[in-house]
Amino acid sequence: MSMNFDVCVIGAGPGGYVAAIRSAQLGYKTVVIEREYLGGVCLNVGCIPSKAMIAAAHFLHKTQHEAPKMGFEGTEGIKVNMSKLKNWKQSVCDKMSGGVSQLLKGNKVEVISGEASFKTVNELSVKTKNGDKTITAKYFVIATGSRPIEIPGFKPDEKDILTSTGALDLEKVPQKIVTIGGGYIGLEISSYLQKLGSEVTVLEAGGALLKGSADAECVKVVERKLKKSGVKVHTSAFAKSYKKQGNKLLVTAEIKGKLETVEADKILLTVGRRPNSDQLNIKAVGIKVNESGFVQINPQCRTNIPHIFAIGDIAGQPMLAHKASHEGVLVAEVIAGHNRVYDAKTVPAVIFTDPEIASAGWTEEQCKQNGHHELKIGKFPFAANGRAVAILETDGFIKIIADEKTHIVLGVHIVGPEASNLISEAVLGIEMGVRLEDLALSIHPHPTLGETMMEVAEAALGHAVHVINKPLTGAPRANA
Ligand code: FAD
Ligand code: NAI
Repeated sequence: MSMNFDVCVIGAGPGGYVAAIRSAQLGYKTVVIEREYLGGVCLNVGCIPSKAMIAAAHFLHKTQHEAPKMGFEGTEGIKVNMSKLKNWKQSVCDKMSGGVSQLLKGNKVEVISGEASFKTVNELSVKTKNGDKTITAKYFVIATGSRPIEIPGFKPDEKDILTSTGALDLEKVPQKIVTIGGGYIGLEISSYLQKLGSEVTVLEAGGALLKGSADAECVKVVERKLKKSGVKVHTSAFAKSYKKQGNKLLVTAEIKGKLETVEADKILLTVGRRPNSDQLNIKAVGIKVNESGFVQINPQCRTNIPHIFAIGDIAGQPMLAHKASHEGVLVAEVIAGHNRVYDAKTVPAVIFTDPEIASAGWTEEQCKQNGHHELKIGKFPFAANGRAVAILETDGFIKIIADEKTHIVLGVHIVGPEASNLISEAVLGIEMGVRLEDLALSIHPHPTLGETMMEVAEAALGHAVHVINKPLTGAPRANA
C-alpha cells in the first residue's frame, strides 16, 4: 500500500511530534511514523519518568529527614511500595504520551505505528503489524533519537545490567547498586535510588563528575551532598568486568590505578548515548553522517539531501529534549518558507540531582575562550535567601558572569533549589543581551528563590544587600 504526504516525520519524540504538529498547523498534509511510543524516549523512558521518580524520592526524603525538623512526628516508619510507585510513574508517562496522541489527532496529523526505513531518498518502507506500507513525501524529517552506549563486558539485559530504562522500572529497590558513569543519567538515577534506600557506588572514568557538562564549582556542591548522604563516588575509576556469585554481582574496577572489587545486586550502565544513525538505511541512501555518528545538518537542520531534514538527538549535541523541540518547530517553518535558522545564543541545561544544577550561557573558561578576558563575577548563596531557609533548602549558590566593560551577562550557573525553574530568567536575559543593571534594577517578588537572580547581579556590581560585599567597595547603585 502506498501513501503520499507533503511532510513525513520519522520518530515521535519531542523533536518529531513537535515538527509534525507545527507542520500540520502550517497547512501541510503530515504523517508521523513511530515504532514504539508517542513522545519518544523523553516522555516514556527518559525525562518524564526520571523526573517523576526523582520527585517521589525527594518527597520521601523530605518527609523522613526534614519534616521532623519542622515539628512533625511519626514519619520514620514510612515505607516505599515500589509496585505502587512504579504504577504511579507509569500513569504520569501514559498521561503525557496520551496527550501527544490527542494533539496529533486534533491537528489532523496521520500517525502510523511501525518501523520506517529509507528505500530511496524519496520513499520509505514502513513495517507495521498489518504488513508493509510505502510512504512518499515532498519532505522528510528524521527525528529518530539515540540509544545507550554499551561497553565491553557489560551487556545490558535490564535484569543484572540496567540501562536507564530498566532503572526507572524496577520492581524492587536494589540493596546495592554500582553505577558506571558519573554524568547526567548516572547521577540523577543514583540520587533517586539512594533516597529510596539503595547503597550506591558511582564509578566515573574521568577525573571529575559531570566533566564538561556543568560548572565545576556547582558540581562540587552536588558531589559533597552525595558523599554526605552515603553515596560512594570514585573518579578515575574504570569498570573492567563483573562476575555473578549467587545473587550477587562482583564488579572489578581499576580505581586510581588499583584493582578493587565492589559488590552489587544491580549494575547501572550510563556512559553516554549514541545517535540512531546506523538504522533506517540513512547512510545507504547517501545521507551524510559525521565522525561522531550524528546526521550532518546545516543551520536550517537540512541534510546534504535538500528535502531531508534531521532534528533532535540524531542531529547533534546537546542531546536535550528542549533542543529537539526547538528544532522541530524550526524545520516545519523552514519547509513552509519562513526565514528561520538555528541561532539560539544558549541552550539551557539542567541536571536534576540534589540540589539541581542549571546553566545558561558560558562558564568562566568558555568566556575566556570566546575573547572575554576581563569578567565581572557575582555569587550569591541560597543560605542568604529567606524562601530557601523556610523550605529547608539552603545548599548551593547562584553565580553570574558578565563582561567587565559592558556588564552584558555571558553566563549564569545555579546549584540549588528549583535551579531548573530559575534558569529560564537567565535564558531570556542572555538571548536579549541583558546587563547586570537590568537584573539588579528589576523588582523581584519577595520572598522567592527568584530574588537570588537580582541579588547575584547586585553582588557582581559590588552592592549586594544580603551578603557582605568583598571588598567593601561602597560601589554606587546600578542607576547612580
Ligand atoms: P527520541 O525522544 O529518542 O525519539 C525518537 C523516536 O523515534 C522514538 O520514539 C523511537 O521509537 C522512534 N524511532 C526510532 N527509529 C525509528 C524508526 N526507524 N521508525 C520509526 N520510529 C523510530 N532531556 C532533557 O532535556 N531533560 C531531561 O530531564 C532529560 N532526562 C532524560 C532522562 C533519561 C533517563 C534519558 C535517557 C534522556 C533524558 N533526556 C532529557 C534526553 C531526552 O530524552 C532526549 O534529548 C530527547 O528525547 C530527544 O528527542 P528526539 O525527538 O530527538 O528523540
Ligand atoms: P553523559 O555523557 O552525561 O555521562 C557519561 C559519563 O560516563 C561521563 O562522565 C563519562 O566520563 C563516563 N564514562 C564514559 N565511559 C565510561 C566508562 N567506561 N566507565 C566509567 N565512566 C565512563 O551520559 P549519560 O549520563 O548516559 O546521559 C546521556 C545524555 O542524555 C546526556 O548527555 C544528556 O544529553 C541526556 N540527558 C539529559 C538529562 C537532563 O537534561 N536532565 C538527564 C539525562 C540524560
